[in-house]
Amino acid sequence: MCGIVGYIGSREASAVVVGGLKKLEYRGYDSAGMAVLAQNGHIELRRDVGKLSNLQATLATSPLAGHIGIGHTRWATHGAPSERNAHPHVSMNGRVVVVHNGIVENFATLRDELEAEGVVFESDTDTEVIVQMIERYLEAGEALETAVRHTLQQLKGANAVVVMSQDRPDTLLCARLGNAGGITLGLGQDEMFIASDIPAILEYTRQMIFLENRQIARLTRHSYEITDLDGRSVLPEIHQISWDPVSAAKGEYKHFMQKEIHEQPQSLIDTVRGRVDFENGRVHLPEMNLTPELAQRVQKLIIIACGTSYYSGLAGKFMFESIARLPTEVAYASEFRYYDPIVDAGTAVLAITQSGETADTLAACELAKQKGATLWSIVNAVGSQATRISHGYIPMQAGPEIGVASTKAFTTSLVDQYMLACALGELRGTLSPQRLRQLVDDLAQLPYLAGQVLEHDEEYEALAGLFFKAKNFLYLGRGINYAVAREGALKLKEISYIHAEGYPAGEMKHGPIALIDETMPVVCLATQDGLYDKMISQIQQAKARDGIVLAVATEGDEAIRVEADHVLYVPATPPLLSPVVNTIPLQLFAYYVAVRLGADVDQPRNLAKSVTVE
Ligand code: AGP
Repeated sequence: MCGIVGYIGSREASAVVVGGLKKLEYRGYDSAGMAVLAQNGHIELRRDVGKLSNLQATLATSPLAGHIGIGHTRWATHGAPSERNAHPHVSMNGRVVVVHNGIVENFATLRDELEAEGVVFESDTDTEVIVQMIERYLEAGEALETAVRHTLQQLKGANAVVVMSQDRPDTLLCARLGNAGGITLGLGQDEMFIASDIPAILEYTRQMIFLENRQIARLTRHSYEITDLDGRSVLPEIHQISWDPVSAAKGEYKHFMQKEIHEQPQSLIDTVRGRVDFENGRVHLPEMNLTPELAQRVQKLIIIACGTSYYSGLAGKFMFESIARLPTEVAYASEFRYYDPIVDAGTAVLAITQSGETADTLAACELAKQKGATLWSIVNAVGSQATRISHGYIPMQAGPEIGVASTKAFTTSLVDQYMLACALGELRGTLSPQRLRQLVDDLAQLPYLAGQVLEHDEEYEALAGLFFKAKNFLYLGRGINYAVAREGALKLKEISYIHAEGYPAGEMKHGPIALIDETMPVVCLATQDGLYDKMISQIQQAKARDGIVLAVATEGDEAIRVEADHVLYVPATPPLLSPVVNTIPLQLFAYYVAVRLGADVDQPRNLAKSVTVE
């Protein structure tokens, strides 16, 4: 996905746009660019391949002056990262300029039609068909709004667009089609803002509107008007954003990922806040719209998600089946949407998504709804598409997660599933008041336990110093901690580029054990639960093949020191909540390995924070 910023008002557009792009760079960083309407009324453009810092260097020597502008930081889909493929894209006759997020699925056909009419294309991008088509309609005498509407009506796929025209120096247009990543409007005093995400404009305004699918907004510095794709007026909801701008900044941390790892005690408190009555041992999830009838009607739960959110669902399965006695499947969203899943009115589908904008997850949600399922979601990003299409949802309330590698969203989503399981269990009558009381009491101590793990920060840094040159890792876990093994492996590989594989420990003897030797560190989740003895057996099997074992173990467990080469102790935690605490050492280990390697921790190569394309 890409980052988009637009501005119209009395400030220098360049400062607002570049500052906003800086906060959106986690969304993609293959190239960056911006355009303004200069004092002479013409469009002026600056674009650079690579990171935003390259564009900033260009602007330092060749600044852009103007009070209306748009900008973009790119995650390449069509057309390699290059200056000519960087956004913004200007129309052939220079009347229109656009920035775009998403994919125009029918761009080849549209390009052929435009070229047949004499349009000369500059780039290899799908985006350019948008700007050329708008100009064709302008040249045919249409007003800008009509030209944009006609163009958008012909696009296939999920797209978010911002349009500026030298014909209308007082106006910005933007639109959202499908699930192409958000378009947020910021309402200022005699100024208006457009951004892909809240952090980009939060320092200027807390009054925001989130464009819905198939909506177009027309902004002047004093006004906004929203219509649907057929031109009908829409009355939008105005959100008052409570996020603290500082919390979206790095503070004293070296990386956003490091900051977000250390924010977990707080995010665990925040995700529980207002939802758990610790006095009476009750869970209350107002946005879920749960009723006893609905809870009884649901006979099956399917969790759909991608990446880290999928691994969270793997752990959640144990919570829903143990606490709510609800048969639960976990599916990759990218697979679910293509294997004709068995879904009906007795099925609830739970989407877990930090961004709320992941294309595969949103498409799977739409399929679930079409098949008659009740759609629930657990989402961090306020106002994102997932929250809008769900019948009920749980806001993670983890605060902005900027680092591409997800950390606090993972642990909060575990707790959100735990709370949902408790609420469902009570409504389904599968949970005695005593057990519910115990489950709620167990939750109360979790933020403190997470904080205890973070106090061993320097141990993980030292351990990373011993292993950062390894080329392959195995992560092994059983039961609910198999999910932690998968997540721990993903953390390492996505920020350090070291190959790491999460595996069910019991599966080792069926093949992967052939991999183990002294060059293959094996990370084992061996905290004291019902599967502890089995994990000790796996550790012994690995050691018998000269494997080097790093074990996550329960404080006070001295016996494991004899078995493992290195022990990462965590406080004793109730089994269903152990993934929250057991993951944190693996987040820190991965972080420090990546730092030792000099990797780009917050913006790993080839990745983006939310994948809003297929
Ligand atoms: C996790 O560290 C990765 N950034 C990635 O796997 C991510 O979890 C996945 O793309 C899903 O994102 P979502 O939770 O926003 O849907």
